[in-house]
Amino acid sequence: MKWGFQMPAKVVVGVQWGDEGKGKIIDILASRADVVIRSQGGNNAGHTVENNGEVYKLHLIPSGILYKGTPCLIGCGVVIDPKGILQEIDGLVARGIDCENLRIDPRAHVIMPWHIELDGLSEKMRGGSEIGTTRRGIGPCYMDKAERCGLRMYDLVNPDVFEEKAKSVGEMKNKLLTAIYGVEALDIDTIIKEYIEYGKRLSKYIADVSVLAYEACKQNKNVLFEGAQGTLLDIDMGTYPFVTSSHPVSGGVCTGCGIGPTAIDEVIGVAKAYTTRVGKGPFPTELDDEIGETIRTRGNEFGTTTGRPRRTGWFDAVILRHAVRVNGLTGLAINKLDTLSDIGELRICVAYKKQDGSVLKDYPASLEELALCEPVYEEIAGFTGDLSGCKKFDELPQACKDYIKRLEEVCECPVTMVGVGPARTQNLER
Ligand code: GDP
Ligand code: IMO
Ligand code: MG
Repeated sequence: MKWGFQMPAKVVVGVQWGDEGKGKIIDILASRADVVIRSQGGNNAGHTVENNGEVYKLHLIPSGILYKGTPCLIGCGVVIDPKGILQEIDGLVARGIDCENLRIDPRAHVIMPWHIELDGLSEKMRGGSEIGTTRRGIGPCYMDKAERCGLRMYDLVNPDVFEEKAKSVGEMKNKLLTAIYGVEALDIDTIIKEYIEYGKRLSKYIADVSVLAYEACKQNKNVLFEGAQGTLLDIDMGTYPFVTSSHPVSGGVCTGCGIGPTAIDEVIGVAKAYTTRVGKGPFPTELDDEIGETIRTRGNEFGTTTGRPRRTGWFDAVILRHAVRVNGLTGLAINKLDTLSDIGELRICVAYKKQDGSVLKDYPASLEELALCEPVYEEIAGFTGDLSGCKKFDELPQACKDYIKRLEEVCECPVTMVGVGPARTQNLER
């Protein structure tokens, strides 16, 4: 018997505040993968894949689904909106995409209507200091998981178990909705009936993803983990409390799918050539000016899930070095270099300066400390022209190559891919 894995898995994570173009990178790497697995988040994610002019926006289903026959697995760390995933499956099937190889772990928690309602109500209650969630019920579902009163996919596909558990949890939630939030109670019996039907349709997809992932690793298959959200949205390593409720960092893959860290040896961080954020919270390099607006318009920076305009700003190497460290990155994919063309001189934030004059090289843990920081910028020559037709890294204008080289130096990580457009083919591998 041989111990250990000969072909350790690859992880792809977002290293900013989400929407870095992970979907595109996963789709490209999935062409060489035997299995694609998601391990956290829910349908708060929106991953765009463009192929032959067709645009797919995936929320829960792994971005490997476009390759017929590639198993796409959803691990125990993901939260599932049954109605949402069925709509997604139906939408893909209607476009000729086969979802027969989709599998969902029975331990994954189910987003129920009360989670969605409570997400909206708690945001409203926060008044001016709301998080700006996607209102998909993500936080309240993870709260119930930690509180140990959540419903899992196993329950959903077993009607007797589901009915009993959902009734008891639903009644508890109705007390919360009526007594604390002062809104109408939900009709629990109707919800149970509706969700049992979803469970019937989803039961064929249920399988132990930990076992499937382990078997794939043992058989030396090429396993690819698809991260959702981004490092700065991680509940521990992000800009708490302006974060999501899961672990988008590479370590989240282990608990969110049930594999050990020895299965992984490559971690690719996906970033944009600048920074964006959707939702509230600190953003030191944010541009509230014409350049920021130009980046938003040119880069089409509007949320894939909610359509909200994304906030835009310069590339921040302080958050990138934080991401290199907390994810153990082995390489970076820098997307949307094309969007920065014709902007003029570019800026890279290399450190933060505090009001007392001291310089911070590492991302601070508290928002209070961050509020005292100003970005320290380095200026670098911009570039002009349409990059979208470039096929090789060497074809890029010298100023682009210099920009990427400087990013590698300040981030302390090699750049292995550069994106010059949204399509599969607009990715320059080095
Ligand atoms: P994800 O959540 O990380 O998968 O990213 P999203 O799909 O939410 O947002 C990224 C957007 O940028 C999508 O519309 C992609 O099609 C697009 N995109 C990805 N890479 C590039 C690139 O290199 N250039 C341009 N112009 N667009 C890109
Ligand atoms: P992908 O996978 C960008 C943000 C929300 C909000 C915060 C909490 O497409 O990169 P939540 O609904 O998760 O409780 O919201 O997190 N957020 C994302 N921002 N991309 C995402 O996913 C996001 N998923 C959540 O805007 O600020
Ligand atoms: Mg997205």
